[in-house]
Amino acid sequence: MTNKKSPFGNPGALLVLAASLALLSCGAARASVASTQPPLKPITVNLQDKAALRNGALYTLHMCTACHSLQGARYSTLSRMLGMRKDEFKQVIGTNGHHFHDTITSSMPPAIIDAFAKIPSPDLTDIALRHSPAWLFTYLTSFYVDPSRPTGVNNVVFHNVAMPDVFAPLQGLQKPVMVEGLRYGSPAKVAIGVEPLTRGSMTPAQFDRTARDIVEFLYAVGHPHQQQRMRLGPWIIGLFVVLSILTYLIYKLYWRRVDTSEERWWRVGK
Ligand code: HEC
Repeated sequence: MTNKKSPFGNPGALLVLAASLALLSCGAARASVASTQPPLKPITVNLQDKAALRNGALYTLHMCTACHSLQGARYSTLSRMLGMRKDEFKQVIGTNGHHFHDTITSSMPPAIIDAFAKIPSPDLTDIALRHSPAWLFTYLTSFYVDPSRPTGVNNVVFHNVAMPDVFAPLQGLQKPVMVEGLRYGSPAKVAIGVEPLTRGSMTPAQFDRTARDIVEFLYAVGHPHQQQRMRLGPWIIGLFVVLSILTYLIYKLYWRRVDTSEERWWRVGK
């Protein structure tokens, strides 16, 4: 007889453990129903590029805050983030009639949201935290014409999105590249990309730059201490390197005085 308490020593308990793991993995497999995933456009975020951040701020505050709020930021924190003085910020970017220390709220009156929009526009700080920059960049550049939708457009990475294509005048309209795929496990025609349909006021390269600047700005707002962390990072690593060298020297100093049993043995043996 064994009186081991560990479940791993007991074959019955092991069997129960294996069965519950198998059940759990079945549940997880059923929860993630397969859908055809369109490829995301890669993007590298460079928070040191102040000109890009300012351009992103300008477009976001003028185009997006009509519907979305950006409550994780105040105009005053933005001006610091963009490296602008208060008067410069007010002149170039503006506070849309709000006080300089106000949080950035949507300009759409709640009555209009109730009457027309129905689906509330989520807060952009929250969106910037939930989605990767690559997803945001693909989302902003991948609206396509879809006459079956109330807004006349759909989106490659957000099927049946309620947001209208605010970029149509800049980017022009686009048509989808459709493939036979899966949506929530059922066969369906799925958009995996877009092709230009009409021309907008910007060239494709200019528009991509603008969308990239908006994504960089949103990322910076969602991660307000990132710039500070990037500045501090090398100093902290340097501090650890110095501490490691000091600790090694102290270790050497201490062990020089310690008489190990091996050393004693050699002395007695001599
Ligand atoms: C006319 C109103 C309107 C404007 C202007 C607008 N949006 Fe939206 N947006 C919406 C609505 C409504 C939704 C919610 C869509 C849904 O849930 O189907 C949305 C959703 C989004 C999402 C996806 C959020 C999620 O839940 O995953 C992103 C990202 C986004 N908007 C970014 C922007 C950016 C950036 C701008 C400015 C360039 C902008 N929006 C301008 C109305 C707007």
